[in-house]
Amino acid sequence: MASVKSLSDSVQQHLASALSATLLEAADADPLLRRSDRADFQANGILALAKKAKANPRELAAQVVSQVVTGDLIEDVEVSGPGFLNITIADKAITGNLAARYADESDRLGVPYAEHAGTTVIDYAQPNVAKEMHVGHLRSAVIGDSVGRLLEFTGETVIRRHHIGDWGTQFGMLIQYLDEHPHELDHKDAQVSGEEAMSNLDRLYKAARRLFDSDEEFKTRARRRVVDLQAGDPGTLATWQRFVDESKIYFFSVFEKLDMRVQDADIVGESGYNDMLAETCRLLEESGVAVRSEGALCVFFEDIKGPDGNQVPLIVQKSDGGYGYAATDLSAIRDRVFNLKASTLLYVVDARQALHFRMVFETARRAGWLGDDVTAAQLAFGTVLGKDGKPFKTRAGETVKLQDLLDEAVERATAVVREKAGKVGLTEQEIVENGAYVGVGAVKYADLSTSAVRDYKFDLDQMVSLNGDTSVYLQYAYARIQSILRKAGEARPAAHRELELAPAERALGLHLDRFGETVLEAAASYEPHKLAAYLYQLASLLTTFYDQCPVLKAQTPEQVENRLFLCDVTARTLHQGMALLGIRTPEKL
Ligand code: ARG
Repeated sequence: MASVKSLSDSVQQHLASALSATLLEAADADPLLRRSDRADFQANGILALAKKAKANPRELAAQVVSQVVTGDLIEDVEVSGPGFLNITIADKAITGNLAARYADESDRLGVPYAEHAGTTVIDYAQPNVAKEMHVGHLRSAVIGDSVGRLLEFTGETVIRRHHIGDWGTQFGMLIQYLDEHPHELDHKDAQVSGEEAMSNLDRLYKAARRLFDSDEEFKTRARRRVVDLQAGDPGTLATWQRFVDESKIYFFSVFEKLDMRVQDADIVGESGYNDMLAETCRLLEESGVAVRSEGALCVFFEDIKGPDGNQVPLIVQKSDGGYGYAATDLSAIRDRVFNLKASTLLYVVDARQALHFRMVFETARRAGWLGDDVTAAQLAFGTVLGKDGKPFKTRAGETVKLQDLLDEAVERATAVVREKAGKVGLTEQEIVENGAYVGVGAVKYADLSTSAVRDYKFDLDQMVSLNGDTSVYLQYAYARIQSILRKAGEARPAAHRELELAPAERALGLHLDRFGETVLEAAASYEPHKLAAYLYQLASLLTTFYDQCPVLKAQTPEQVENRLFLCDVTARTLHQGMALLGIRTPEKL
C-alpha cells in the first residue's frame, strides 16, 4: 500500500511553488506552515522573505495569494496581520485524505516509512541476576519497549539487547554458598512462579551474605570462586548458571505481567562479553587511549574532575586484574558496531549513569570503534517519585517490589472496570482481562506521557482516573467508538467527500492527518511522550465531536456513514498509537 501524503505536506508544497513563482529568491524558501486556531493553517515564512528582498510583507503576501490555486485542496487563503497567510482546507480534501488512510488495510494507516533507515541496537530492560527488580528497571523496560516499536514502525531494523547484570564478584559468594547448600534452589514443583523464584534467590542471597560477613574461611573460599568463575571453571559456571536460570524465571514473570515480549536470545548480559574483555583492554592500552595508573588501566578526560580537582578516570581494568562495568560496555560497543552492524546505539538507562556513558562513548570514539557513521546515545530517564515527591519507597522505607506494584495497579483498575461492567455487559473473564490491560496500561502511560528525563510521580489514584491525561481515558475513547460501531446495525462507515463538515469534524480530521508526522517525529527524537500527547488530544477532539455531532442520529444516511467513518479512522489511529506505546485497547470497556 502506498503511503498517504499528509495535508500539511501538500499545502506546504503548494505554497512553496506559489512563493517561488512570486519571488525568484524564494526558490527553496520554507513557507513555515503551522496549524492555527484562526484558520486551518497559517504560513509565517513571508515575513523573513520580505525582509530579505526589502519588500513590503503584506504586498508580497498578497502577490503570493494571487499565485495560489484554490480548489480541491485549498479552499481559501488570505493575508492576515503583518503578512501571514491564513489557509483554509477544503472539506473534501480532509475527507479524501482520511479515506486514503482508511483504505490502507495494514495497521499503518498510510503512514510513510522514514527516509533513512538504519540499524539500531537498543539496550533496555536490564535487571540484575539474583536481585529484585525496582522501579528504575520498570522505566527502562517501558520506555525501551515503546521506542523499539516506534523505530520499527518507521522502517528501522531494531536489535534488542537486555544487558542484565549477571557477572561480578558477588557471584563468588553466591556460588560457594549454593555449592555448600546444594538443595537451597531445589523446587518442590516442576513449575515455580516468578515470585517464588525471587524469594528463593533473596533468601539465598541474604544467607550467603550473612556467612560472608561473619565467617573468614567462607570469605576466602568465596573469593577463590570468583577466580574460578573468571577462569571459566565448568563446575563453577554450572552453579552460576543456576542463578541465571532462576532469575530469568522471575524476570520473565515480570515482563509477562507488563504485557511485554522479551526474547531469550536478546538477553545478552554482562557475561556475554567475557571473551572480549582482555582484547578490549589490550587494544585500548596499545593505542594509548588507556594508560596504567596505580596498577589500574584508566582513561582520562580533560573535563571530568572530582571535587578535589583531580581528573576522575574511567577504570577499564582494576589493579587486581578484574574487569568491571566499563570493560563490559566497551566490549559490547565493539560487538554491536562490528558484528551487529549498528548505525545507532541506544541505551535506555537511569540518568544517574550519565557520566559512565559519556566516558564510555568518548573512549570508544578515541579507540575508533565509534566512527562518524555511528551514533551513540543514552536515553536517560529520571527518578520515580512517590506521591510525596520523594524517591519511591514503601512506608517502611524499603524499595517497592515491582510485582506488588503491578498487582496493585491491576487490582485498582479491575475495580474501575467492574463498576461499569454491568452497563457494557462484560463477563467475569472480560473484567479480569480488561483490568489487567487497564492497570498495566495506566502504569505504562504515566511513564510514557511525561518526557523521560523528568522525574515522575507514581500515583495510582491519578493513573487509573477516568478523567484527564490517562490511558484509561484513551481506552474508553476507543471502546466507546467500538460500541457505536456495534450499534450501527445496517449502517457501515463510508466516506462521503461531497459532505460539508462541521467544525468539530474538521478539527478531528485535521488532527488525524498529523498521525504519521507525529509518529515519525516521536521515533526520530526517541520521545514517546509526543505520541502520548497527540493521542490524548485526539481523544479530546473525539469528545468534542460527540458533543456537537450526533453520529447514529445524524440527519441523512450519508452523514451517518461519514460520521461512522470518522469514528472508525479515529479508533484505528488510537489503536495503532496505543500499540506503539505498548498499551492494549479492549473492544468493550
Ligand atoms: N543492569 C544495570 C542496572 O541495573 C543497567 C545496565 C544498563 N546497560 C548497560 N549497557 N550498561 O543498573
